[in-house]
Amino acid sequence: MLDQTQDLPRRLRNAFGCFASGVTVVTLRDGQGAPTGITVNSFSSLSLDPALLLFSVGREQVSARWLQSGEAFNVNILCRDQEPLAWQFARPHKDKFDGVAAWEACNGVPVLDGALAHFVCRKHAIHDGGDHLIVVGEILDFAERDGDPLLFHRGRMCDLAVTA
Ligand SMILES: Cc1cc2nc3c(=O)[nH]c(=O)nc-3n(C[C@H](O)[C@H](O)[C@H](O)COP(=O)(O)O)c2cc1C
Repeated sequence: MLDQTQDLPRRLRNAFGCFASGVTVVTLRDGQGAPTGITVNSFSSLSLDPALLLFSVGREQVSARWLQSGEAFNVNILCRDQEPLAWQFARPHKDKFDGVAAWEACNGVPVLDGALAHFVCRKHAIHDGGDHLIVVGEILDFAERDGDPLLFHRGRMCDLAVTA
């Protein structure tokens, strides 16, 4: 049994934070059809055939509501220069797309300019994940380009150390 006496969520978050990940922004549309998005590092590839990906979103996040009610979203993998975007989409804001360059994919949802890769998705399934929802997306289209990824480790953004 886990020791619940000493701030378990904080200790668990710290331990999870030892896992270095990339950083994505999941773009979607809110209930009024306005573009919005959420910074997510729980992204994972899932299946090649059919082409599926997954990420988890906190049940209390505003975006969780739009992911449950809507059908379309895109996953944008950020490159090392896009740290400001990661923080912009990680804060509550009325217009998260303020000053953000993007174009509209075939599912009607924006893709961020300059992303290292993007996946255009249709909602495939949402599963229970405790205080999070596990969102599975069917990949309708995708593209990638050259470049270095933005990374997240122990609560900080970083990039790949280049060794000779
Ligand atoms: C690097 C990073 C990764 C994050 N990953 C997730 C995640 O995987 N799932 C999640 O629900 N929130 C994640 N967050 C927190 C959300 O981005 C943040 O709470 C955001 O403001 C939620 O937006 P919303 O309230 O518009 O839904 C992450 C934040 C950062 C900085």
